[in-house]
Amino acid sequence: TSYDTILVEQRGRVGWITLNRPDALNALNTRAMHEIVVAAEGFDRDPGVGAIVVTGSERAFAAGADIKEMADKSSVDMVLDDHFGAWNRFAAVRTPVIAAVSGYALGGGCELALMCDIILAADTAAFGQPEIALGVIPGMGGTQRLVRAMGYYKAADLVLTGRRMSAEEAERAGLVSRVVPAGELLDVAGEVADGIAAKSLPSLYAAKAALDAALETPLSAGLRYESAAFTSLFATEDQKEGMAAFRDKRAPEFTGR
Ligand code: HXC
Repeated sequence: TSYDTILVEQRGRVGWITLNRPDALNALNTRAMHEIVVAAEGFDRDPGVGAIVVTGSERAFAAGADIKEMADKSSVDMVLDDHFGAWNRFAAVRTPVIAAVSGYALGGGCELALMCDIILAADTAAFGQPEIALGVIPGMGGTQRLVRAMGYYKAADLVLTGRRMSAEEAERAGLVSRVVPAGELLDVAGEVADGIAAKSLPSLYAAKAALDAALETPLSAGLRYESAAFTSLFATEDQKEGMAAFRDKRAPEFTGR
């Protein structure tokens, strides 16, 4: 596959997707959306990939959906474009996805990060949902995922005012997993991703699915889901290997079986 708007590369067991529309601060036009989804699904289908990193440039993770592309569209155009279905496919990827955010993560850029499992932010990162200043609202999950991530009042502060939040405030609020010095962002992302990707793939899929269930189910149903997933992992060779390695005081060698 050849891509116009992103760079796609596999390093070891990690799939890297780098947004690459520097002239538009990585604004997510329709093409970029489809390319990101196709690249992520391609990595997701490959058992040689155990983690995916999505990143942008130093100046911008992504400054949102492409305003110039959207500006003249009708409501029906937006329905037919079906941005929502495409992004739902990204969020449905089973492989753990890490967002490595430097610079602007605004609007759809912030929402793309929110579709990932771990958000690593450079200390220069700025998060926000400025749609309200354009006469619209977040449309890639921002109102829903921000409330779940940071609670109603922090989310409403972002969505209703359109203001930006620093990496430090975003971490305090629960939107960011870790803040790192800007110069170390990609190295840290690589280390975190390599560490995840070295684990047993079935256990990674199960862990992500169980975490997702926590956002969608009452506690009792979530606990039933977790215990069923936990016990099912005892059918894997990797569970035997992981526990044997602990007993033998050596590093486990997972095969993904
Ligand atoms: C299209 C964009 C863009 C965007 C920046 N650019 N953001 N183009 N869509 N979202 C373009 C600018 O037009 C400009 O191109 C170039 O990128 C550099 O941007 P500048 O504005 O010159 O840079 P700067 O002054 O440093 O300001 C950076 C910024 C600002 C604060 C990030 O660009 C900005 O406010 N961008 C829009 C942020 C936003 O409102 N995002 C929400 C979008 S709505 P030219 O060629 O003109 O110089 C959304 C809805 C999602 O995301 C739901 C979809 C279903």
